[in-house]
Amino acid sequence: MINDFYDILNTLGYHHPFHPTEVHMPIGLVVGALILALVALIFRRDRLLLTPRYLIILAFLWVFPTMLLGIMDWQHFYGGAFILPFKVKLITAPILTVLLGLAVFLGRRYGSTSMKVLPVYFLCFCAVVVLGYFGGQLTYSGRTISGPEKYMTGQKIFSAYCTTCHPGGGNTLAPDKPLLHSPLLKNQEFFNMWIRHPASPMPAFPPEKISDAQARDLYDYISHVIMGK
Ligand code: HEC
Repeated sequence: MINDFYDILNTLGYHHPFHPTEVHMPIGLVVGALILALVALIFRRDRLLLTPRYLIILAFLWVFPTMLLGIMDWQHFYGGAFILPFKVKLITAPILTVLLGLAVFLGRRYGSTSMKVLPVYFLCFCAVVVLGYFGGQLTYSGRTISGPEKYMTGQKIFSAYCTTCHPGGGNTLAPDKPLLHSPLLKNQEFFNMWIRHPASPMPAFPPEKISDAQARDLYDYISHVIMGK
């Protein structure tokens, strides 16, 4: 079902994860709310607290689709691999949701311009910093080595599915098992067998995810560009 969703996006020409497009909303809204609330506190302008209240309500509503798309991206692009950044995010995102809900509730209870919600805004801010940090780690740790134009298709598949764990041909989860000089890259059959049935925690990539033709492009890219054959 999840793969169908991404297949439709693919046919429309969209190949990227979806979560990054949504995540800036709750993050920006929470940071904005805290800044405005602090200005209200410093300059003693209670009425300025009205805007952060609306920002927090919007962040609370936006956090649900953002989490859903995050889980879908995690399943599709990372094979649901249970690695540290995802563990942290899976814990912190529900905490943020509860904190946002609490902020919305307290605002209703004490009135929109009450300073009592400020500590909760601050805790929401801390949660988005943690989420943003680990999201950034997932996005930017993946360096993809560029090669000649003819390996571009394989390079795209590599950056979509492999770079996070194998940046530059290394291995972030098992540093003693880098792609470089791996015996499993000796030929296409070994390679296909491995990506279809790898050892955990590497997720499997069945033909629905990476077709045989794509596996050939991927193998060409890895063996020529990363291994520099
Ligand atoms: C979630 C992290 C993760 C992703 C994503 C991932 N791998 Fe791996 N990969 C690993 C881990 C961990 C190992 C070591 C497994 C073991 O043998 O213990 C590994 C091992 C390998 C090896 C064998 C290295 C050796 O000699 O032992 C190859 C080849 C490989 N991966 C290719 C790929 C390709 C191609 C992709 C993308 C289609 C990919 N991997 C995606 C984590 C990942």
